[in-house]
Amino acid sequence: MTLDPRALRSAFGSFMTGVTVVTTRNAHGQPVGFTANSFTSVSLDPPLLLVCPGRFLSTHDTFAQCRHFAVNVLAEGQEDVSNTFASYKGDRFARVAHRIDALGNPLIDGALAQFSCTTERAMDAGDHSLLIGRVAAFHHAPGRGLGYAGGKYFSLGLERAALEQSGRGTICGAIIEHGGKVLLEQTPDGFRPPQITLPDRGRLRHDLAEALAARGLPVQVKSAYSIFDIGDMRFTYLLATTEAATTGPLTAIAPEDLPALSYTSPPIADMMTRFALEARTRSFGLYLGDGRRGDVHSPLERT
Ligand SMILES: Cc1cc2nc3c(=O)[nH]c(=O)nc-3n(C[C@H](O)[C@H](O)[C@H](O)COP(=O)(O)O)c2cc1C
Repeated sequence: MTLDPRALRSAFGSFMTGVTVVTTRNAHGQPVGFTANSFTSVSLDPPLLLVCPGRFLSTHDTFAQCRHFAVNVLAEGQEDVSNTFASYKGDRFARVAHRIDALGNPLIDGALAQFSCTTERAMDAGDHSLLIGRVAAFHHAPGRGLGYAGGKYFSLGLERAALEQSGRGTICGAIIEHGGKVLLEQTPDGFRPPQITLPDRGRLRHDLAEALAARGLPVQVKSAYSIFDIGDMRFTYLLATTEAATTGPLTAIAPEDLPALSYTSPPIADMMTRFALEARTRSFGLYLGDGRRGDVHSPLERT
């Protein structure tokens, strides 16, 4: 059986990981490094870790033959460092603050964890090599790591902080997709996504899914799409999908028709217009702000 390599790559990519930068020095003593999410801890005793440099790397042979290397686990907010070590073709280390460890490996400033290793083994493995390191020293700082899944960075902090802030009442709604259309509620004041009012936000996703199921609409709640405060109220809208056979009193609207509708409030109108735009590329940002002003965070900064 032949496997479709693109489908396989995307299936592998469904595994959520952190992001690391692997560094060493080449034969001329120059620092080299590449971004890697193939990092795995292997053993505590002896202390071993693994990372997989691809044969396609310009520095593959350096890593396959190195006697020592370091693995830097990137922190939330270090997307630029990751991008530099994934694609910048100039002097990557001139762009990124770092220091040199006792073995001579560059350690990236601000990384959550830095492992200085001697090479235990290096092996061929198809189009990659397996590089097993024995940890000689390490540093670990508190904080959250940068996440990576499905070819995109995500940051648990951004979404979590927004979802967890308390002290306000919450209106929580769902932008529900059904067969390529969006399900909206029609009220005397205009359209809006179906929504519920919650006393606390601890179990927002769960409570929203439960309330919609009770209305006969089983949904799969996905990522947060828009979070804004108006007065004492926090409005949180999450993306959702449903495969329900019937959708009750909700109206199904094609995404391209969303901007022309009349909505219950201007923030909802803005949100649905943005949704119509982003639905074209399926690249959904996260709006954080108040009813009038805020920022849309690109999917690269989040899930
Ligand atoms: C999030 C992320 C994870 C990556 N993981 C790996 C990896 O595990 N192994 C690898 O060889 N390349 C990986 N890459 C690709 C390399 O970082 C990239 O091909 C490399 O930096 C190119 O370096 P070069 O210009 O020196 O060839 C990853 C890239 C990204 C953005």
